[in-house]
Amino acid sequence: MLTGDRPTGQLHLGHYVGSIANRVRLQSAYKCYFIIADLHMLTTKNAREDIEATAANARTMVLDMLSAGIEPEHATFYLQSAIPEVGDLNTLLQNLVSVPRLERVPSLKEMARAAGKDEMPYGLLGYPVLQAADILCVKAHAVPVGKDNAAHVEVTREIARRFNHLYGDVFPVPDLVQGDVPTLVGTDGQAKMSKSLGNSILLSDSAAEVRRKIMGMYTDPNRVRADVPGTVEGNPVFVYHDAFNPDDREVADLKERYRAGTVGDVEVKEKLAAALNRFLDPMRDRRARFEAEPGLVDRLIVEGTERTREVVRETVADVRRAMGLTSTYNRLRRKAAR
Ligand code: TRP
Repeated sequence: MLTGDRPTGQLHLGHYVGSIANRVRLQSAYKCYFIIADLHMLTTKNAREDIEATAANARTMVLDMLSAGIEPEHATFYLQSAIPEVGDLNTLLQNLVSVPRLERVPSLKEMARAAGKDEMPYGLLGYPVLQAADILCVKAHAVPVGKDNAAHVEVTREIARRFNHLYGDVFPVPDLVQGDVPTLVGTDGQAKMSKSLGNSILLSDSAAEVRRKIMGMYTDPNRVRADVPGTVEGNPVFVYHDAFNPDDREVADLKERYRAGTVGDVEVKEKLAAALNRFLDPMRDRRARFEAEPGLVDRLIVEGTERTREVVRETVADVRRAMGLTSTYNRLRRKAAR
């Protein structure tokens, strides 16, 4: 299994429901690689300051994953830019997909817009191909990602099939593993929880911070008083209750009273804050445990990168052999040696 994130900041509840829950659930069934995708970050953020922040952000990201339940002995974390052979594979895969196909990937236009680009950078258009290189460089069978990345995994599957068809079976065609909540709504009611929109609840938020964010959450705007019947469907407060409150009876009771206009928003939010903090408390304990071991996270990343690099080198050798590139040079070398 391979998945991961760009090192741009802390992980939040949207990442959790989209992908991290599946990472934790599947970690004992697969050999797991977690990429710190700093080359992907460069497609929209390539200023010196962005790059200088990568090491700290990588540590944060890995600590977030360990806190969320990833066990270090199951996991191989690695820094993408420290494995140049990924770029070699990217170069070889580029010819297996067309420009119009990439132009139809919806997330790329959104990323370009969000990054304030009025023209599509070449590297950003190639984002899904580089992601295919990541996934295929370890011959992954499963890729747990959120909704935004589903189209990228589809491009990977097409590239893998095309490669196997042209050059022989080298790659498994990896399965997309999607989360229970395709896209988690933000605390402000915006369609998507996102750190840059300032509407996220971080896995590393303190109990007080979680409570503050929940009490300020967007709910049914038509509900001006507690005795006005409210709408449950699509209401972010209830979306979160459904996703994070395991007490089904409490949730059902709150929904019924909300619809009837017999419960205040404050009680609904208080119970949500309590549920979320019960959900996050074990992560806080784990975080404290891992933070107490100095150098642990750095060591995991460096050792993981070394291990991954060996695997990638083998894959690139397989690919070059399958494509006939190895024999091209061997032929020349044999003649040169005479
Ligand atoms: N595209 C992912 C993101 O949105 C990061 C990523 C890069 C990735 N390579 C990957 C995810 C390979 C899964 C598999 O941040």
